[in-house]
Parts: sequence; structure tokens; C-alpha cells
Amino acid sequence: MTDAVRILMCPPHHYDVDYVINPWMEGNIHRSSRERAETQWNQLYQVLTGYATVDLVKPQPGWPDMVFAANAGLVLGDHVVLSRFLHPERQGEEPYFEQWFEENGFTVHKLPKSLPFEGAGDALLDRAGRWLWAGYGFRSELDSHPYLAKWLDVEVLSLRLVDQRFYHLDTCFCPLTDGYLLYYPPAFDAYSNRLIEMRVPAEKRIAISEVDAINFACNTVNVDRVVVMNQASDELKQQLGDRGFTVEETPLTEFLKAGGAAKCLTLRVTEPRQDSPQASTVQSRVIHLEGHLLDSGLVNRALDTIVTGGGSFQVLNFNLGEQRQDHSSAEVKVSAPGQMVMDDIMGQLIDLGAVSLPQEATPAALEAVVQDGVAPDDFYVTTIYPTEVLIGDRWFKIEGQRMDGAIAITRSANGLVARCKLLRDLQVGEEVVVGSKGIHTLRNEPSLKQKTDDFSFMGAGVSSERRVELVVEQIAWDLRRIRDRGGKVVVTAGPVVIHTGGSEHLKKLIQGGYVHALLGGNAIAVHDIEQSMMGTSLGMDMKRGVSVHGGHRHHLKAINTIRRYGSIAAAVEQGALTSGVMYECVKNNVPFSLAGSIRDDGPLPDTKMNLLEAQSDYARLIEGADLILMLSTMLHSIGVGNMTPAGVKMVCVDINPAVVTKLSDRGSVESTGVVTDVGLFLSLLVQQLSKLTGQYAQI
Ligand code: ARG
Repeated sequence: MTDAVRILMCPPHHYDVDYVINPWMEGNIHRSSRERAETQWNQLYQVLTGYATVDLVKPQPGWPDMVFAANAGLVLGDHVVLSRFLHPERQGEEPYFEQWFEENGFTVHKLPKSLPFEGAGDALLDRAGRWLWAGYGFRSELDSHPYLAKWLDVEVLSLRLVDQRFYHLDTCFCPLTDGYLLYYPPAFDAYSNRLIEMRVPAEKRIAISEVDAINFACNTVNVDRVVVMNQASDELKQQLGDRGFTVEETPLTEFLKAGGAAKCLTLRVTEPRQDSPQASTVQSRVIHLEGHLLDSGLVNRALDTIVTGGGSFQVLNFNLGEQRQDHSSAEVKVSAPGQMVMDDIMGQLIDLGAVSLPQEATPAALEAVVQDGVAPDDFYVTTIYPTEVLIGDRWFKIEGQRMDGAIAITRSANGLVARCKLLRDLQVGEEVVVGSKGIHTLRNEPSLKQKTDDFSFMGAGVSSERRVELVVEQIAWDLRRIRDRGGKVVVTAGPVVIHTGGSEHLKKLIQGGYVHALLGGNAIAVHDIEQSMMGTSLGMDMKRGVSVHGGHRHHLKAINTIRRYGSIAAAVEQGALTSGVMYECVKNNVPFSLAGSIRDDGPLPDTKMNLLEAQSDYARLIEGADLILMLSTMLHSIGVGNMTPAGVKMVCVDINPAVVTKLSDRGSVESTGVVTDVGLFLSLLVQQLSKLTGQYAQI
């Protein structure tokens, strides 16, 4: 069998490092010795003639990298897919390689001009011929892979390269005889590593060290049980030896300067074809983006999302508006190595407002719920943005939009309803949207835009101490306008509001009609009631700032009193609670919800210790909110952020910048962060509101 192997090489008569198209070439321009290169190349040639017949293609002046024959094309049986080099520096090699293949009886397939593919540098056959591993990410385009599958009639497994030192697949991956694989896992993304692990059993995988990788140990010529490479560590030699391989080292340092070694310098032209079903799992979809694409950086974000998600793109067209305020639109072809990656990428693009082209819009895929409270595996996870799904030939707006839910479909005599539901609320008999087809989010809805404009002065971001006053002015202005037009403001507050002396001011906001629901935990109510009944907050005298003898029991006494009356409202009605934030809520008919936690003392009878009930209660109170004021409570703020749809302005006040940032990290992008003491913030806010009223005492 050995003598049946033929290898193509190209003598290095014109080899040099003339330009930089990979990181190895940097700093090496004209630093290689032609003489040494000739010697090293000849040694490799000599070694290989011991195991195979070596054919030669004539080198051409002006094309110094032509010596890397692996990049001529990809051979299988008597077919070859000719390379389409990414860099113009190498494109001139194509006709010479083409001529050689023609003269040697190959059927030559040529890819479209704008579709880079760099031959056997980026495509390696499983040595048993069962499938083809094809790389992408640097030199070859993912979209070339389906052509390989079709023309060569082989299954193609796409692997994404992520380390630019290993820009060609053959620099970090080498299938060996008997199903072994020599490779450097960190050169691939997680999905690709998983794919490799699924196809190659653990005992057949030889993962090499970084040192071996940068000595190009994966860039190996393998014939039967012999592996020929530049250099291998003792450890690697041992590993290969244990598996019955003989390592032949032959120095190729001159070629390393151009980013290549043994395998790059050769192209195996006898690749017997095995029966394998042609297939490529590469998926493509065309998406449409519209809006202030440049101003908003949306195009960049979309393209980044595709690439970092493991896909690739082709911009099919891009219409820039004429003026700055004009809309622009873009059509982008998205490709991904498999359905899972595609769904992931599409999910994120949908969040950015991307839609499928009308002619490509396929109805959403639905799958039945077969167990209460459990969604089908690849259910679409909702975001805060208004969303529509295509069912049959109609788009349905989703009700109850929130993030981290599933889209549940129910059909009845009254028609079809698509609703955002939490996993635990899913019921057998409903269907759930799966995958990413037939879904789009409305990022530019007129109502949304209107609201965004209203608040545009706040923008997103975290303000520093210096800007607090300015921000407070703006928030006051908004509170005023929302109140006057009958809108809704929800406050979520932590106990710090009480400790920092904020309750005076929060009370005023409630009295002034600026607060339409209050959300918190057991603690804020307990401390507020303690302060109202005993003048202390967690045992501290609020007026004098000193701790009171026996004060640490005060909050338990406060709890106990309320428990006696059965509820906060009952205590108010019966005159046991006569002031404070909770008192004002009861008196002014402001609904409140207290969510329990593991550390709660008591708790107060009003505190909902069943968290699912508390969550639903919060969700009910948030409904229809125009603005949510989050005052020094990380957990409740994030909880609230998660259940709030886009378009609702959030103002998060906390002394800890991490809390404020965390909220925007949670995806609640329309929030404004104010890093300051919450007591100070509230006093400034009340002061500002009274200025607007013109009456100091009254807001
Ligand atoms: N300088 C060449 C390039 O960057 C090196 C090619 C190495 N070939 C390979 N199959 N890895 O294209």
C-alpha cells in the first residue's frame, strides 16, 4: 500500500518571506536563508521518498509561498477542489496548481471567486476516509464547506479555528492511521472540540502541548505508521510510540518562519475514495436589519455576534441612508456549522432586532409540552423586547413579554394566543416555540420609540457623584409628568432606605401620589415599622445615631406587634401603626408586595414566604409601569428587571457601583444607574419636586 501513496511537493527555489499574512511571518521578512531552506526541503523530500512517490510541481518566481503545496487544493479520488486564496499575495499560485491538476487527470472544481478556501491546508480527510474535517475562521470561509460535500461526495465536519497562530487546520490538527488524531484543542472553539470528541473516541485522541504545537508537531505527514514532522518533545514521541507510530524528525525551521512545516510542504494526491454519504451540516439564513444602523453600531454588533457565536457572514447588500437621520438597511447571509450554533446566533440576532427576509420567513416551529412545568429542549428563550411569532401565515404579538420565559401557544375557540410564560407555568396541552425560525423582536416600535425619546436625556449608563444632581432633576421632571398624565411608577426599595434616613422622603413621594406600587422584602417593612413604633432602625436611634440599650430586640417586637394584628393594614386601621412608609402605603392605597427570604426574622404576616407567589405578585404590580425606581436593593432590583419588558425606564440607585452595573449586565439595558447614598438621593429628589411645585412643603 505504501508505494501507492503519491505526494506532491514544490521545490523552494523561489521561497522567501516577502510579506506578512500570518503571525509567524511577522518580523521574518527576508530573514530566511534560501540555502538552508533548500537543504531542509531536500531532507524532507528524501525522507518522504522512503514512504511514497513524490511528484513535483514547478515553482514560479514571484510566488514565494507556492512551496506550501498543501494549499494547492483538496483532492479526493480523481476530483480536486482548487484553492481560492484569501490573500492576494497567494492568489497568483492558483493557475499553476490548476494546470498541474489538469495535466494529471483530475477533475477540477472551482469555487466562486469571493469564497476563500485554502485546500488541504484547511481540509483533512479522516484517514479511513469516513469524513472530511474542514477548518474555517481565518483563511477558509464556512460557506465553502457545502461545496466540498457536494463535489467530493463526502460528509464535512466544520471546525472553527480561534487562535491566529493556528490559522490553517493542518497547523493544529492531524488525523492519523487507524482513527488516531493528533491535535491541539485550544486552537478550536468549544463547539468544535465537542464535535471532535463526539467523533474520535478518547483513547484515539492525542492532545499535544503548546510547546509541541508551536513546533508544528501537528503539521505532520503520516503514511501508515510513520509520522514525519519538524520536531516533537520526548513526551509526544513516547505517546506516539506507545500507539505504534514511528516519529521521524526533520528540521524545517526555515519554513516555520513563513508559518508552515512538513505537512504544509506536501499534498497527498492519492486519497482513495470511500463510501460516505455526502453531507454538510452548514446552515445558512439571510437576515434583514433596519434602522440607524451606523449610528447605533448595530451592524457591527450583529456581525460580531455572528463571528463570536461561531458562524460566518456575507453582507449581501447594505443601503446607507443619504442623511444622518435616514434609516439604513442591510441583508446579511449568516452561516453556521450546525443547527445548534445557528439557533444560538439567530437568538441573539433576533434580540438585536434582525428579521428574516419576508420570502424566507418560515413559520415558527412548535413543540408540545409533555410535562407540566418543563419546556421542550431547544425552546426559544424570551427577552425583554416586544416579540412576534409567525404561526401559519400570521404574526402574533406575544403577551406578557418578559425575559427568560418560553413562548407558549394556546388555541381555543376564540383563536390563538401566544404568551410569554415562565417554565414552571407551562402546562401539558400547550405548545412552545422552539428553535429560532419565525420569530422577531420589535426594537423600533413607535410606542417604544416614544418612550425612549421621553427619557432620552437619561440615556443608559452610570452617573458619578458629580452628575447626581443633574440626574435627580431629570427624574423629578419625569415623575411629575408621569403622575400628571396618570401613568405608573413602581418603587422597589431595600432596608437601607430606612437606615439612611430616606423614609421621610419616600413617605413624601407616596403622599404626593408619585408612587403606585412598592416592592420590597420583609426587612424594609420591619425596619420602617420599628422606626415608626420605637424610633430606632435595627436598634439604632435614628435621630441621635447611637444604639439604644436593648435595641437589637426592637425589630422583633415590631414584628410581633404586627403579627398580633394579622397584617400591616390591620395594624394601621386599628391605630397601632401611625406613621412611616408602610403606613403611607396603606393610607394612600398604594399596593405593596413583600417577598420573603431565608434570613427573614418573623416574618411579618404580609411577607410572602412562598417565592413563586411573591414573584407573581411582583409581576402583577409591575404591569403597565412607566418607570421603576430601584432603591438600594440588588436582589429585588434584578428580580424586577427580569420580569419587566423593554420600554419601561428603570432608575437604579445604589452606593455600590457593582449593583448598578449588574442591572445593566442582566440585560435590562434601558436602565440609568445612579451611584450615591440613597437617603441623599431621595432628599434631593423631594427637594427638586417641591421646586417644580413651587411650594416647598408640598410636592
Ligand atoms: N505563508 C503561508 C501562508 O500564510 C504558509 C502556508 C502554510 N500552509 C499550510 N498548509 N498551513 O499562507
